[in-house]
Amino acid sequence: MVLGVLASGRGSNLQAILDAIDAGRLSAKIGVVISDNPDANVIKRSIEWDVPVVCIERKQYESKEAWETAIADELNVHQAELVVLAGFMRILSPYFVNRLSGRVMNIHPSLLPAFPGRNAQEQAVNHAVKVSGCTVHFIDEGMDSGPIILQEAVPLEEGDTPETLAERILHVEHVLYPRAIGLYCEGRLKVEGRRVTILEKGE
Ligand code: GRF
Repeated sequence: MVLGVLASGRGSNLQAILDAIDAGRLSAKIGVVISDNPDANVIKRSIEWDVPVVCIERKQYESKEAWETAIADELNVHQAELVVLAGFMRILSPYFVNRLSGRVMNIHPSLLPAFPGRNAQEQAVNHAVKVSGCTVHFIDEGMDSGPIILQEAVPLEEGDTPETLAERILHVEHVLYPRAIGLYCEGRLKVEGRRVTILEKGE
């Protein structure tokens, strides 16, 4: 299975996916990494790992649709079958979502539907919840609202700041995301409306 990864920043989730592939835990190949940010660390990581990487900046295009078309075309060129958003900081339009319907995954650092959008960890700390975590989901036209694939809880600890909580959640993300991608690659995710059922191996 060929993956196309869209990322804007640090790239630790990309690294976790590369590590899982390298260790034989994930049977997939990264066809291309696309970033919208020329300064993103994710570009450096891709070069280090010899993964094709392309920067497609929003400002180079007159419209959002033209920019998204360029991204979708690049994914096609590299024959990406599943698109993995890994810290991609831009909202994709219904045009893009529909064009790649059911083939785009995202990871979000909260237990959705709680705390969608930016600064999810800060929202969790400010809300003084006892448990937060992370969610892998398919994207739909809404903000962090698509069908949920996997979730894992991370308890809050006394004195947690958004940064300490983010750090603990990130460790869990690095396990959960490759696992969800693996389930997709094995054809084990059955999507009916909002419900995603995980099929047994060979089912
Ligand atoms: C992660 O916390 C992820 O949940 C969110 O963006 C962050 C990306 O981190 N969507 P990284 O660039 O993968 O290190």
